[in-house]
Amino acid sequence: MLKKMELYFFISLLEFVITSEGIESRKFKDTDCFDVDDISGYRGIKQKTMNGWKCQMWKRNKPWQHDFKPKKYPDAGLTKNYCRNPDNDTEPWCFTVKTSIKKQWDYCGVQRCEVIEATPAPLNETCGIPDILSVSTRQIKTVGQIVGGVESVPGSIPWQITIQMKLDNELHCGGSIITELFILTAAHCVYYDQTASNYYIIVGEHALDTSEGNERRYNLAQIILHENYDDMTVENDIALLKTQNEMTFTSYIKPICLPEADSLPVVGSTVTVSGWGVTKQNARPLSNQLREVSIVIVDNNKCQNKLNSISIEQVTNNAVCAGIWSEGGKDSCQGDSGGPLFAESSDGQYDLIGIVSWGIGCGKSKKPGVYTRVSAYIDWIESKIYD
Ligand code: ARG
Repeated sequence: MLKKMELYFFISLLEFVITSEGIESRKFKDTDCFDVDDISGYRGIKQKTMNGWKCQMWKRNKPWQHDFKPKKYPDAGLTKNYCRNPDNDTEPWCFTVKTSIKKQWDYCGVQRCEVIEATPAPLNETCGIPDILSVSTRQIKTVGQIVGGVESVPGSIPWQITIQMKLDNELHCGGSIITELFILTAAHCVYYDQTASNYYIIVGEHALDTSEGNERRYNLAQIILHENYDDMTVENDIALLKTQNEMTFTSYIKPICLPEADSLPVVGSTVTVSGWGVTKQNARPLSNQLREVSIVIVDNNKCQNKLNSISIEQVTNNAVCAGIWSEGGKDSCQGDSGGPLFAESSDGQYDLIGIVSWGIGCGKSKKPGVYTRVSAYIDWIESKIYD
């Protein structure tokens, strides 16, 4: 392969040829992959080499002096320190800020687009559509134990997972699959022990004590807690778990969609919450089968006014309350934490509206359950997933 500096002169020439042919109006891709047919067209935001070294800013000469300056290559997309390919190399690369090594630059390991398309489902591409339907339509389901709910049809909530601790192999919390590598859960589930290797998750689970053949177990590579999680007030109760291996999706194992950023759940609309939590307040044991219950979104101010004066935990605008206001009787409870509060969206897919966070008792009148509002954290989630 040619050295970058040697290539520089060659490229200036080539660029002249291309622009004089009038082929400047290429469509650049700000995706996470590069197109083999447009080898310098990558406009994603990866800023690390394949070895994890941070990239040097293109306009800077530190630590490495070079000639690939944005001014000189105005069409090469040399913004910040993003991986780029101004010299038509085989793939995007960057100069690294690592000075302890001889190598001034390296490839970023950006995938080729076809490869990404061959592996299923990046965020929200195929999500929220179970193969297996729940018996009745979730919206009209009123019977019920979660608290006041019913047993779910196995496989009808394919994004639901359990978090277990290796110490005791017991169910610790719930969570939701959002991509092949990431689970969304509550920060309070993993706050006291943040060592990824102490946990594992089970996907495709229904009856905890039976092996039904659809379950898969994955170890965790990383726990990403929200930086502003407050263990006193339980604000920003959200965390991402990264699995060591990509999860294989099946009819029993599928991701849920994320809601539109900053969208507000409609007050009075029906949502479903699921988990293996206790079916009565302070009543162990946990439920052996996955259960679900339909509840209703409560006005946030009303909820704040009711709960914030009587509890240390605080309902914020980044939380959402749900329950049956006057009657109570339907709720999530201990053991459901981290699990999904979800609703069918207008396009027929299920969105992850909330994460089971906290409550005052379970199923009490005028004390709805409190959930982390996922739509308030879309930027945070994306920044962590695409890091
Ligand atoms: N914090 C509980 C857990 O760790 C979840 C409580 C939910 N309570 C409620 N009333 N909605 O499992």
